[in-house]
Amino acid sequence: GADVEVDISGIEPGQLVRVMWRSKPVWIVRRTPEILEELSTHEDKLKDPNSEAEQQPTFAQNRFRSMKEEYLILVGICTHLGCSPQHLKDGAFEEVVEGVPDGFFCPCHGSKFDMAGRVFQNVPAPLNLVVPPYQFVDDTNIILG
Ligand code: FES
Repeated sequence: GADVEVDISGIEPGQLVRVMWRSKPVWIVRRTPEILEELSTHEDKLKDPNSEAEQQPTFAQNRFRSMKEEYLILVGICTHLGCSPQHLKDGAFEEVVEGVPDGFFCPCHGSKFDMAGRVFQNVPAPLNLVVPPYQFVDDTNIILG
C-alpha cells in the first residue's frame, strides 16, 4: 500500500503513461491545449458533466477533473465492470463519438469517456472514471496516494 512517486517530466504532449498504484493501473495524460478545449464542446452528451457523483478528490471537482489542467490522472478501470478502456486519440475517438477527436473507449460493453474521464450518455458505465488522490511534489513529480 505504499504511495508511488512518478516523474512526469518525460511525458510528451498528448501522451498517456501507465503506472501501477495499489494494484491498480493509473493513467497520466499530458493534455494539449486542443484537448482541453474539446472538453467544453460535448457536455450536453455527458451523464455527469460536473462530476457531482464524488468520484474525485475535491481539488479535481472541476471541468478538467485535475489539479493542473495539463495533467489528467485517472484510475484506468471502467466504472461498469472493471475492464481497461482504450485511449483513442488524434481523431480516432470520432469513430465512437462524432465530433470528439480524443477519448477513452471500453471494448467490453462500449462505454465511452472524454479526456477528463467523464462518461457519455447511453452507455453501461454509471460513473465518471475515478480520479485518485495525488499531489505535486514539485513541477515534475507527483505522488499518488
Ligand atoms: Fe467497460 Fe462494461 S466493463 S463497458
